[in-house]
Amino acid sequence: MAFPDSFIEELVERSNIVDVVSNYVQLTRKGSNMFGLCPFHNEKTGSFSVSESKQLYYCFGCGKGGGVINFIMEIENLSYPDAVRFLAERAGMTVPEEQNDDGAKRRKRLLELHKDAARFFHAMLSAPEGALAAEYAAKRALTPKTIRNFGLGAAPDSWDSLIRAMTEKGYTKRELLDAGLVSSGKNGRIYDKFRNRLMFPVIDVRGDVIAFAGRSLDGSEPKYLNSPETMLFSKRRSLYGINFAKNTKRGSILLVEGNIDVVTLHQAGIDNAVATMGTSLTTEQTRLMSRYAKEIIICYDNDPAGLKATDRAISILKNSEFSVKVLHLPDRVVNGEKVKIDADDYIKLYGAASFEKLMRLSENHIEYELAVLRGGADLESDDGRVEYLKKSGELIAKLGSPVEREVYAGRAAETAGVSREAMLSEIERARKRLAAAARKKQEKEALRPASAMQPTDRSMRYTDVRSAAAEEGVVRLLMLDPSLISKCDLKGEEFTSPFLGSVYSIILTRAAQLKSVDPAALIPLLKPEEAQELTRISQKPQTAADASKTLKEYIDVIRTQRLAASDDLMAARNKYLENKAYESKEG
Ligand code: UTP
Ligand code: MN
Repeated sequence: MAFPDSFIEELVERSNIVDVVSNYVQLTRKGSNMFGLCPFHNEKTGSFSVSESKQLYYCFGCGKGGGVINFIMEIENLSYPDAVRFLAERAGMTVPEEQNDDGAKRRKRLLELHKDAARFFHAMLSAPEGALAAEYAAKRALTPKTIRNFGLGAAPDSWDSLIRAMTEKGYTKRELLDAGLVSSGKNGRIYDKFRNRLMFPVIDVRGDVIAFAGRSLDGSEPKYLNSPETMLFSKRRSLYGINFAKNTKRGSILLVEGNIDVVTLHQAGIDNAVATMGTSLTTEQTRLMSRYAKEIIICYDNDPAGLKATDRAISILKNSEFSVKVLHLPDRVVNGEKVKIDADDYIKLYGAASFEKLMRLSENHIEYELAVLRGGADLESDDGRVEYLKKSGELIAKLGSPVEREVYAGRAAETAGVSREAMLSEIERARKRLAAAARKKQEKEALRPASAMQPTDRSMRYTDVRSAAAEEGVVRLLMLDPSLISKCDLKGEEFTSPFLGSVYSIILTRAAQLKSVDPAALIPLLKPEEAQELTRISQKPQTAADASKTLKEYIDVIRTQRLAASDDLMAARNKYLENKAYESKEG
């Protein structure tokens, strides 16, 4: 462990989970727990619980859970050591010098390497080796000031220019590989990954360079080459431009498709633009944006791929707290032909003021979806009108607010040329269908006790559910009342779940050292997925009344299951031998 135990203990003690979580989630008390809307998945009713007495959080909906450090890791998107530092700062504690913390050291080196690489690429943009990239940047109308602000650079057309520059600075081959800045060839030699490209450093909210995207200059494929997933960079958690957009005063974030769109928009004073990097929008990215704005304006390209991406983004954002709008980029007409354009093209053709106007005119997502339905419907025919009525009814039925339903029912009725009443009754029917489907889903889930018993993380699945349930019980009881340890003669090997066995061993060791075995004390010692599991287990009801009797029952179950399992083995073996004997008789 990187930090001394005593430090972590004090940190957890000084970081009351209710106070910490309250900065992100509005909690209300229900019984002994606090409840709120889960920040880790989309939901309308709160299944996210925080227990002040246990100092744990747990979501009954998505299964996420853990202690205060896990919460900060998850919600702030931080590594374990960084989450510890984050909480230490909040609690006014000084973080002790890290002892042999390899992970943190490597991370720091990689951050330095990325910074140095960004400096190198940037310098190359003014050097002869970067002339082509500089020319290309000028062709895309990027000003010197923008190039400086975004730290754009040039990767020379060479196999080893970055390698040479970084090796000179003392970085090793291993570090260059870990950073994803080089690739290795057949003979184990390495070469520069980014060659002959305009380089965009990807910068996170803390201002650190965590990856690169390189655009080709000569039409070679791929058009954009991105850093691979590394210790620093996860595509699904990153947004290009968030380092600037997070400071916007607009109250909204503009979601565009490409890196160049982001740069051009910021250059035009539209300082809230961000882009995903070649993936569709994820819930992680949604959460990241929600820290800085309450409204999202989707402005994807007006081509089939862009429209599809818009639909997917809407479906992710719909259930979030965001108000979602869609900015529609009009086609450009050249010689009577319609041409698709993106945000970058629009700014360059019509200017920033005109784009600002489009932003103001951008439609609420439901208007947008109705318009898409309208575009695809043949309202001249009766069939087409019925179809439109049905589909728009389904769409409007999903709206939570009755006022909104009224408003859009009116509009859709007008479009379809039917009465408002007909539209409203169609919507009611759709609402009943939705409610019935939701009920059915819930019932089905309730009927799956065995799967509900299983850990959320697949790698920890139980092989023997009955024994594992008793093993969980043992762990839960011992955490509740460590004095029972003297009455428990189970060995770690008797556990069928390796995870529960290891928690059991930790409990024994810590108890022998007179250290706390509360879940909150154990959780910082575990990996995040294990912490989540232990939380899931500890939130299940368990009374300490008659505890030694219950403990004995658990132990019995574990040992009988073991016997049964070996009996099963014996039975299977006998059966196999019998069959064999039968076969040999037959044959
Ligand atoms: P686009 O091809 O629309 O990019 O892809 P763009 O920014 O409009 O490109 P140009 O420079 O103006 O021609 C949108 C985004 O998808 C990712 C990149 O992040 C890009 O900005 N992408 C695209 C890739 O990751 N790889 C590719 O090969 C292409
Ligand atoms: Mn473009």
